Amino acid sequence: MSLEDAANELNQILDKFRWDFKNYENYGSFDAVGRLSRNEAILALESVKQFEIDYLGQKSDFAATKRFFKTLPVEDKKVFGEKYQWFDKEIGGKLVGARLQLQNHVQLIDAKSETLDVTIPGRRPRTGHLHPITILRQKIEDIFVSMGYSIEDDREIETDYYNFEALNIPKGHPARESQDTFYTTDGFALRSQTSTVQIRAMERRGVPIRIIAPGKVFRRDTPDMTHVPMFHQIEGLCVDKGITMAHLKGTVTEWLKRLFGEDTVTRFRPSYFPFTEPSAEFDFSCFKCHGSGKFDGERCRPCKGSGWIELGGSGMVHPNVLKGVGVDPREYSGFAFGFGLERMAALMYSIDDIRHMFENDVRFLEQFR
Ligand code: DAH
Repeated sequence: MSLEDAANELNQILDKFRWDFKNYENYGSFDAVGRLSRNEAILALESVKQFEIDYLGQKSDFAATKRFFKTLPVEDKKVFGEKYQWFDKEIGGKLVGARLQLQNHVQLIDAKSETLDVTIPGRRPRTGHLHPITILRQKIEDIFVSMGYSIEDDREIETDYYNFEALNIPKGHPARESQDTFYTTDGFALRSQTSTVQIRAMERRGVPIRIIAPGKVFRRDTPDMTHVPMFHQIEGLCVDKGITMAHLKGTVTEWLKRLFGEDTVTRFRPSYFPFTEPSAEFDFSCFKCHGSGKFDGERCRPCKGSGWIELGGSGMVHPNVLKGVGVDPREYSGFAFGFGLERMAALMYSIDDIRHMFENDVRFLEQFR
C-alpha cells in the first residue's frame, strides 16, 4: 500500500463528508443557528451527533485508515500521520462547532421560556371567613373551656328515646306531635333540642360532668323573620355532688359577663321544662342600652325598650333524668341550660331577619368579617 493510495482514501472520506454535511455546515455559526426554532435545532443536533458517529466513531471509515500506520514504510508514516491529524481536526472541528452552537441555542430557548417576571403585581386571593353563627359559637366555646367545661358533639338524628323519653318528656306531650318535629319514615327524629346530648354525654362519661354541647336542631316551623326549621343551640350540663341553683345562676351570669362585659346582669324567671325541676328562663341586661331601655334618647332596639334580652331555659336536672342514666339523685345533683344562637346573633349584629343567615348570599355574609 502506497502513501498515495492511503492519502486518496482520506480524500475520498473528506469529499463524502463535505457533501453529506453541506446542509449543516452553517450551524457552526451563531447567526445561522439563531434563526432555528427549538424543534429544528433539536433535529439538526441529532443529525450532527449521527455525523460524529459515522465519520469519527470507532467503526467509521476514517478510523479504519489507522491500519495504514502498520503497513506504510517508515518515512511515509510521518507524512500520512500529519494528513491524518489534519483530517481529524477538519471533520471534528466542524462537527463539534455545530453541535455546541445547536446545544447553546436550545438551552437559550429553554431559559427564555422559563423566565419569570417577578415585577408583575400578584393577584390577591379572596380569603373566606367564618359565618356569624360560627364566630359566636366559638366565642362562647372559648369562655366555657376557660371555665373548665369540655365540648361535646353528638348525632343530629335521634331515637324517640333520646329526644324525648330520657328527657322525661312523656308520651302524649305536645312537643312530640309530628307537626312540631321531623320524623323519618322509620321512626327516627331529627333532634329538636340539644338536650339529647345531656343523656348521651352522661352515658358516655358518667358523673361528675361539665360539658357544653353546641349543634344544629330542627323544628317544623314555617320560616319567617324569627323562625327557621334548622337552627343552632348550645346546651350546658353540670352534674356533681352538692350542685345547687346558686351554681346555675353563677355560671350563667359569669359567661354572659365574659361575653358582654362586667356590668351585665341576669334575671331568672320561674318556668317549666320536663327535664328540670325547678326550671327557669333566663334573661340578661341588654348589651346595647345596658338595661336602661333607652339608647340615644330613643327606645332601645335589641331589647325593645325593656332593658332585658330573653335568652334560654335552665333548671336543676330532674331526678328522673339522672335515674335514667343510672345516677343516684340522692347523691348527685346538677343544673342544665340551653339557648339558641340565631336570635342572639341577630340581636348582636342587628340582623332583622334570621333567614338571611342561611341564604348564603355573600353580600350579606361579607359584612361579618
Ligand atoms: N331544650 C330546651 C329548648 O329547646 C332548652 C332548655 C331548657 C335546655 C331548660 C335545658 C334546660 O338544658 O334545662 O327549648
